[in-house]
Amino acid sequence: MSHHYLHFNSVSFTYPDGTKALSEVSFEMHHGERIGLIGANGAGKSTLLQLLAGFLVAQSGSIDLGGLKITPSTIAEVRRTLGFVFQDADDQLFMPTVFEDVAFGPANLGVEEPELTPLVMNTLNRTGIAHLAHRPPYHLSGGQKRAAAIATVLASTPSMLVLDEPANALDPMARRRIIEQLRGFTHSQLIASHDLDLVLDLCHRVVVLHEGKVAAVAPPMTVFKNKELLEHCGLLPPLRMQELPPEGPQLKVVEGHHHEAALHHHTAEK
Ligand SMILES: Nc1ncnc2c1ncn2[C@@H]1O[C@H](COP(=O)(O)OP(=O)(O)OP(=O)(O)O)[C@@H](O)[C@H]1O
Ligand SMILES: [Mg+2]
Repeated sequence: MSHHYLHFNSVSFTYPDGTKALSEVSFEMHHGERIGLIGANGAGKSTLLQLLAGFLVAQSGSIDLGGLKITPSTIAEVRRTLGFVFQDADDQLFMPTVFEDVAFGPANLGVEEPELTPLVMNTLNRTGIAHLAHRPPYHLSGGQKRAAAIATVLASTPSMLVLDEPANALDPMARRRIIEQLRGFTHSQLIASHDLDLVLDLCHRVVVLHEGKVAAVAPPMTVFKNKELLEHCGLLPPLRMQELPPEGPQLKVVEGHHHEAALHHHTAEK
């Protein structure tokens, strides 16, 4: 078995309509490593994750996971070790209630009562959505669906997590909770995200995709400090590294007229 947990080896993929989404993508991931997969819209992030899940098959190159080459005949085995959180949570939730969705994975792996219910409730508590246990997933808000999707994956205790935009549509508290959760999860994680602050908080290394090619593989700070690289790839540094304007609009506090004072300031400045 290779000492690299995941190995993309010169992987290329073109969609049936001729769109070349990935060309000769190579990178390695170590055991326990968290890698951020970043790049502008259309850079190829989701395509790369779909190849890993075996939903798409590369025309050339190879992907090895835990020493196993991903092929149509190994994909069932591969999927048992991977926990996927898709970009669209609707692809992931299909049971009548959130509880049943979260119970589905562990039940398939042979977890039975009396262990199953506490496992599900514990996972729902950790993701902050225990109060949604008996709601149908299709009636939830976007952020609630995403939290539920993440809970379904965590409950199956995969050995590697693959997440496409995990913080998308989450409010700041929910986002923080998910970041803490992922940080507490010691296994390998591949996280595709436009939330570069999250990537900075979580990831050991970053793979930068640009028009289907790997533009850089480096620690987050090395990438985020490289203005030329970011510009070339159509990216901006994490918000926390961006310069703030010297002074925001001043709010003159007039009792009961906060709004007008602020508006007045804006118009006066023009
Ligand atoms: N089903 C498809 N058929 C044809 N082309 C596709 C298909 N899905 C994606 N593409 C194209 O493949 C390229 C990579 O798309 P992909 O969805 O992997 O990008 P992404 O990096 O995930 O973007 P985003 O940040 O918007 O999620 C794009 O040019 C896209 O238009
Ligand atoms: Mg995508």
